[in-house]
Amino acid sequence: MSKLLIEGSRKLRGAVKVQGAKNSTLPILAATVVTEGENVIHNCPCLTDIDVSIRILRYLGCSASRHGHTLLVNTDNMTDCHIPNSLMREMRSSIVFLGGILARFKKARLSFPGGCELGPRPIDLHLDALKKLGAVITEHHGEIYCKAPKGLVGGTVALAFPSVGATENIMIAACLAKGTTIINNAAREPEISDLADYLNKCGAEIYGAGEGTVVIEGKEKLHGVAHTVIPDRIVAATLMSAAAITGSEIYLEDIMSTHLSAVIPVFEEAGCNISVKEGTMKFSSPERIKGLKLIRTNPYPGFPTDAQAPLMALSTVSRGITVFVETIFENRYKHIGEFLRMGANIKAEGRVAVVEGVPELYGTSVEAMDLRGSAALVVAGLGAQGTTEIDTTKYLERGYEDLDVVLSSLNASVKKI
Ligand code: EPZ
Repeated sequence: MSKLLIEGSRKLRGAVKVQGAKNSTLPILAATVVTEGENVIHNCPCLTDIDVSIRILRYLGCSASRHGHTLLVNTDNMTDCHIPNSLMREMRSSIVFLGGILARFKKARLSFPGGCELGPRPIDLHLDALKKLGAVITEHHGEIYCKAPKGLVGGTVALAFPSVGATENIMIAACLAKGTTIINNAAREPEISDLADYLNKCGAEIYGAGEGTVVIEGKEKLHGVAHTVIPDRIVAATLMSAAAITGSEIYLEDIMSTHLSAVIPVFEEAGCNISVKEGTMKFSSPERIKGLKLIRTNPYPGFPTDAQAPLMALSTVSRGITVFVETIFENRYKHIGEFLRMGANIKAEGRVAVVEGVPELYGTSVEAMDLRGSAALVVAGLGAQGTTEIDTTKYLERGYEDLDVVLSSLNASVKKI
């Protein structure tokens, strides 16, 4: 595994393209299971999480190959309906394969995805919803056995929480169910809309994706298509944080500003100037931003939990106080201990963290513990005096394609060793 060495306090400058969305590519790859024929998915970032999905598709007997940022997937020769523990453990969101496998094979077997660095990651909403569509699900020895001998039947599902993964699982399964499925309190993230756009191009009939209620009319079969994945809004927010902590002006290409509707105002209130024209963002930051006041994470269109850590890195050197409330995950503050080592002033209690901006952080050796926390350490390192060494890139590589190269192209000094 590699380390990252970051020389801080350098101004960034220049333009960079934002990668395709990891959290759109993953459910779309899972959804290819309910299609026949060739799928050509463009703008897929090179990430270890996507490599895991490709390995799962191949394990199931499908053909899946990468050609630059394009993935070719054909699931016609799919033979298996079992995802082994080794693959499920590698990536918790592999659970999103369940709906498609069950809808196509009328049975599925996979192991519990297990917890992850963000705390327990239950899948009760996924399983309860699939039961509403007629699935019979039993669990033992850490494995989940699902069957629907007569096929899935459309039904009404009310999600207790607008779970992104559960919404995706149900949407995919319902595409081949008999009749109509209604999802109430569905997740509204842009990645849900992108998945629905892909499935509708495949011949599905999905209405209301991106709103609270989604309706899916079941079909006999769907066909593979070409699709281009939306840009990654969390990577965009991370790069904005990097520019803000170094008091820089940069250009970000491939921006969909509606996807950043909760993020852009936070930077503007802190004193940054942002303008988006034809998909390119001009972002400029003052030397030292004002405190961000309050950042409370919420399901979309609220402030995204995945941007909490990078924005917290920025807030550590702002001129003021920022209060964070993390409402989505119960253990998403692991980066705080590392920020304290860099000289930050943060007090955390449960889901609340209070950050008092300090004039500067100083570089030191820090430990990466999860994906967005790793990105936050990079942001902190860029703004720190001296050199910051991040012990591993294994988490970062799950969600950021060549972040060292991207930042170096913006004049940062970030070396992977
Ligand atoms: C997706 O995870 C994203 N991952 C996450 O991004 C993101 O943080 C999350 O949505 C929230 O936006 C992918 O899309 C691959 P959830 P997911 O189901 O689907 C609880 C990243 O950094 N819950 O909306 O797993 C759960 O414990 C990753 O790119 C249940 O209780 O998120 C959590 O507290 C991290 N029961 C909350 O809901 C369930 O059955 C949100 O989970 C399912 C979820």
